[in-house]
Amino acid sequence: MTQAPVNVTVTGAAGQIGYALLFRIASGQLLGPDTPVKLRLLEIPQAVKAAEGTAMELDDGAFPLLSGIDIFDDPKQAFSGTNIALLVGARPRTKGMERGDLLEANGGIFKPQGEAINAGAADDIRVLVVGNPANTNALIAKSHAPDVPADRFTAMTRLDHNRALAQLSKKLDVPVSDIKRLAIWGNHSATQYPMITHGTVGGKNLAEAVNDQTWVEETFIPTVAKRGAAIIEARGLSSAASAASAAIDHVYTWVNGTDEGDWTSAAVISDGSYGVPEGLISSFPVTAKDGKYEIVQGLEIDDFSRTRIDATVGELAEERDAVQKLGLI
Ligand code: NAD
Ligand code: LMR
Repeated sequence: MTQAPVNVTVTGAAGQIGYALLFRIASGQLLGPDTPVKLRLLEIPQAVKAAEGTAMELDDGAFPLLSGIDIFDDPKQAFSGTNIALLVGARPRTKGMERGDLLEANGGIFKPQGEAINAGAADDIRVLVVGNPANTNALIAKSHAPDVPADRFTAMTRLDHNRALAQLSKKLDVPVSDIKRLAIWGNHSATQYPMITHGTVGGKNLAEAVNDQTWVEETFIPTVAKRGAAIIEARGLSSAASAASAAIDHVYTWVNGTDEGDWTSAAVISDGSYGVPEGLISSFPVTAKDGKYEIVQGLEIDDFSRTRIDATVGELAEERDAVQKLGLI
């Protein structure tokens, strides 16, 4: 192993996603089997001890690619020199909390984290926001990092993409790997739009293979869009291992690229493509090449898809307006 370690900062490291994520990073699944990593864990002061416990277990994993672990409760230190930042820690919505309260509480987290990334991260910094509301938290962080190229801030809809793959694989009784060109549009929320129109399965059009618009509208879309709530209902806790797995997929693809002819989904900064207002962090079909996510261009959008995309993008615009009013961006 000759390569210098890549610094990976994980916030919310003592939480449930952190617990599932850190071991996969340490084992080499985030960046590949030839890339050593150095972990920088950020927690709130009350949870530093728990993060220390996780770090002890990481040590005990004796991972050959793990070249060190540092734990911080100060974002400036945690993001200093970091190459990849996984922003997982967020303020969960608690009883009686309005949406505005949640946005404000998260503004208190993602504003200083954006500032710290701006001040001290490495030049090649790439940021994935997982903590909810992920798209708008990414927008807040990006707004406070004016020196970092805007396309380095992304939010996670890969979990929604993977959920959609799983539902289609069951419906068609094919392996998930046969399904290509699926796309999640908009917000990581119940308004998201999983689009199959341009998908393929075994080289054939996916929508034609499904051939059941009632299932698409009444079962597939709501199942994917409300899967997070269904898991909370069943587990009593939100999804964690699947969220960690999707975060691994998102960064691995970002760094290593998509397969020729295929694409995936990620929430990236809009350049105005498909009528999504410029500057929103919205999910799109994306390819990755040379370490960059690019929005897939030139897709025909039918009327049904247009209505769904407009609804979820409208929700993102409302969230942006709310955080603007709160002075968070
Ligand atoms: P959790 O409550 O188990 O852990 C969150 C951790 O974040 C806690 O340890 C907490 O101390 C820490 N934290 C809070 N504020 C912090 C700050 N300012 N700096 C550093 N750490 C901080 O939650 P979890 O189950 O791990 O989920 C984390 C987030 O991910 C939640 O917002 C959840 O809704 C979200 N999530 C997103 C997706 C997605 O697809 N985008 C999927 C699942 C969960
Ligand atoms: C998920 O999609 O599992 C999470 O975002 C949890 C949630 O609140 O839906």
